[in-house]
Amino acid sequence: MANNNEFPENKKSCLVKNFDFRLIFEKSKKNTFKKCNDLPENITRSTLSIPELSEPEVIRHYTNLSKINFGIDTGMYPLGSCTMKYNPRFTEHMAANEQNMVHPYQDESTIQGSLEIMYRLKKHLINICGMDDFSLQPAAGAQGEFTAMAILKAYFERKNDKRNEVIVPDSAHGTNPKSAAMAGFDVVEIKSDEKGYIDLEILKEAVSEKTAAFMLTSPSTLGLFEKNILEIARIIHGAGGLLFYDGANLNGIIGKVRPGDMGFDCMSLNLHKTFAVPHGGGGPGCGPIGVKKHLVDFLPVPTIEYDGEKYYLDHDRPDSIGKVHGFNGNYLSVIKALGYIKRHGSVGLKRISEFSVLNSNYMVSRLSSTYEIKNPDIPRKHEAVFSASRHKNNDITALDIAKRLIDYGVHPPTIYFPLVIKEALMIEPTETESKEAIDNYCDILIRINDEAAKDPEVVKTAPHTSIVGRLDDVFAARKMILRWSPGE
Ligand SMILES: Cc1ncc(COP(=O)(O)O)c(C=O)c1O
Repeated sequence: MANNNEFPENKKSCLVKNFDFRLIFEKSKKNTFKKCNDLPENITRSTLSIPELSEPEVIRHYTNLSKINFGIDTGMYPLGSCTMKYNPRFTEHMAANEQNMVHPYQDESTIQGSLEIMYRLKKHLINICGMDDFSLQPAAGAQGEFTAMAILKAYFERKNDKRNEVIVPDSAHGTNPKSAAMAGFDVVEIKSDEKGYIDLEILKEAVSEKTAAFMLTSPSTLGLFEKNILEIARIIHGAGGLLFYDGANLNGIIGKVRPGDMGFDCMSLNLHKTFAVPHGGGGPGCGPIGVKKHLVDFLPVPTIEYDGEKYYLDHDRPDSIGKVHGFNGNYLSVIKALGYIKRHGSVGLKRISEFSVLNSNYMVSRLSSTYEIKNPDIPRKHEAVFSASRHKNNDITALDIAKRLIDYGVHPPTIYFPLVIKEALMIEPTETESKEAIDNYCDILIRINDEAAKDPEVVKTAPHTSIVGRLDDVFAARKMILRWSPGE
């Protein structure tokens, strides 16, 4: 263990660009945080009145709260683009058993098991995705995208290449253009074709000597697998650019195709989607990034390595973009994902994508005569986007339908996203739902469609059974009350 009064020797190289962990260490030594001197007055408490409650009162409070909450353990939760699939209990147990055992400042020789877990997950992800290396540090999909973009920036800077444009199709996940912009690139958005695929002619026009990268979300937010990937890779590489793959929707293709084999130079994953790490409420998640050989030097430090005898953290990587998360990221997510992969094995992982695809296409076949959907004949991967445009004739919106679903005891889908579909209802049944659960969801949607025609008022004023009705989200966001005060 490190001496408490000195910054640990083996951590001295873990300096984030523009940030020095030694400052935090020095500050915490002097106890300045305790005095809260650094906090602005308007966010410090003026009075301290903490309720005094007995244990049963606290337990009842939280149990009652949990009863009015809706989660994946309560019912089907087909939030499009979120892969809200069932999170098995055994991975939770694995993480719970591990979490109290190690301290982040422990010497590497005493945490060989934890390092091995991280190393093994990295190796599995390399195999699953066809990449040459992975970093497990980013805490979310969007942070993974940003990290990959920062790596591309560093790569071109090292080559003294001034490329500064990243091409993003309008079917990409909304975080893609933001990640590229945050890394300092100019974003060039291109329109997809009528079916939702990349329009090769528009792409060719957008590509130039300024093109640094192309970001592809595949399967896309429309649930489509991009059919011209090899040609896209040829166009981008031919112009000197690199390819990024947003693999957050990997549950639609896992075990079938690998981004690395399709020509991608780097990619991100969402362990909190594909690999059954729970998510929602802002995390914590894990968004590992994979890279091909030419980008390995730029990965965040430390990387997790094995020298044939022991596992170790490599901080000595001069071209690294620095750290993007404290210590090694959300380590508990890593344990859960590794358990999930080991339990499934390669055959099981293939079945994940088979069931994910089967379930969404079954849902399309059940709903396409009731709810508008573009090109229902094109097979979907993990999800499908319907539209409530037709219902607008009866003054019923996607929001009304979503709210009415709550009355029937299921969770609404994602609505109004992707933006390319008007009145979007984006539904991802996921691979963990049974035929009965999907039938039930479709029956409810068909019933709501009938109600919309015969009794629109009941849909427009939904929900009727929940503890709160429709909330004014904008007001709540602008007038946020974050502090408990006595009497509330
Ligand atoms: C395709 C895709 N990319 C990126 C993200 C962003 O991931 P996160 O919410 O973990 O930042 C998501 C989120 O669900 C996604 O579906």
